[in-house]
Parts: sequence; C-alpha cells; structure tokens
Amino acid sequence: MTMTFIKVHIRWCVRRDMPDVLAIEKASSVAPCSEEAFLAINRERHTITKVAEIGDRTLGFVTYRLHGKLHAEILNIAVDPVMRRNQIGLQLIDSLKRVPGRKIEAIIGEHNTGTHLFFQAMEFKAVKVLRRHLVEPDEDGYLFRWESPDADDGSSGEP
Ligand SMILES: CC(C)(COP(=O)(O)OP(=O)(O)OC[C@H]1O[C@@H](n2cnc3c(N)ncnc32)[C@H](O)[C@@H]1OP(=O)(O)O)[C@@H](O)C(=O)NCCC(=O)NCCS
Repeated sequence: MTMTFIKVHIRWCVRRDMPDVLAIEKASSVAPCSEEAFLAINRERHTITKVAEIGDRTLGFVTYRLHGKLHAEILNIAVDPVMRRNQIGLQLIDSLKRVPGRKIEAIIGEHNTGTHLFFQAMEFKAVKVLRRHLVEPDEDGYLFRWESPDADDGSSGEP
C-alpha cells in the first residue's frame, strides 16, 4: 500500500480560518454545524479548535473540550475530503497526544465506519456503546478512548 504524508502546521484556529473550516465541515458532515453554532461552541470555556494548514490553506481541524488538562474530549474532527488519507487527521490527533498522562475520548456514530477505522488506527479503543446518543442522524454512539502510556502530575504541556 502506498502511504502519503503531507506535513502540516498545527495551530489554534482564528477568525480568518472560518470560511475554510466551515467549508470542510459542510463537506464532511450530514448535519454540518452553522457558523453561529461553531462560534458558540468555541466560546465555551476550555473548548479549543486547532487547524492544520499548509501556507495559507486550511486542510483540516479538530475541536475539543478539556476536562482538566489530562482529559480531552474530541467534539469534531474533519479533513478536507480531497486531502484525506495523507496523515493530516493523524497529525491533528498527535497534537492532542503530546500532553503526558492525557486521556482522549471521542464519540462516533455507529455508521461512520471510516472514522471508526481512523480512530482504531490512532490506537483508540472502542470502550462503550451509548444507545441513541446522537441526534442527527439518530443513532448509537461508540465511545473511543486513548490513554497515554505515561503518568504525569499534569504540570507540563499545553493548556
Ligand atoms: C476521520 C478523518 C478526520 C480522517 O482524516 P485523514 O486525514 O483522512 O486520516 P489519516 O490520513 O490521518 O488516516 C490515518 C489512518 O487512519 C485510517 N483511516 C483513515 N480514514 C480511513 C477510512 N476512511 N477507512 C479506513 N481507514 C481509515 C488508515 O489506517 C489511515 O492510514 P493509511 O491512509 O496509511 O491507511 C476524515 O476521514 C474525515 O474528515 N472524516 C469525516 C468527518 C468525520 O466523520 N469526523 C468524525 C466526527 S467527530
């Protein structure tokens, strides 16, 4: 199998990223987030969006909420459809894994099998089925979890 790798720069999302981020969201979700909803989520405490970019082009993003420094809950992750399978999603996830001792969780709809396989490739484990958890579409959610192999006192790493 040929593996492609496009090295991206990962940084915090800023207002000027919004058109690209919303276009990726629209192309990636059956129930895409509106700009208003996206901004409201990102105004919530401890909620962060990071983008993956090359030059001035945004190719993907991840939105997550921190429950303390050591528990990150992924709320959304998406890569531009034409840029998928270039390890961009991997680099977004790796940017979250860098905090020692961290646990990362994501709930993925039962029919989103490509994303299940992505999280499995990222060494997440499916640990629970959450019945009728998702609304649009109405389906079960699979809770995926990754736990850092190293323990830490939480005094280092990103916010
Ligand atoms: C899930 C998603 C972010 C992955 O992004 P990506 O940049 O294409 O993923 P990567 O290239 O980093 O994939 C790394 C590995 O994960 C696995 N993988 C990723 N997508 C896969 C798919 N559709 N089918 C099977 N395996 C997949 C592969 O093992 C892949 O390595 P390989 O390409 O060398 O085989 C992207 O498919 C996406 O935007 N999906 C739609 C949005 C979505 O469903 N988000 C989840 C809601 S929270």
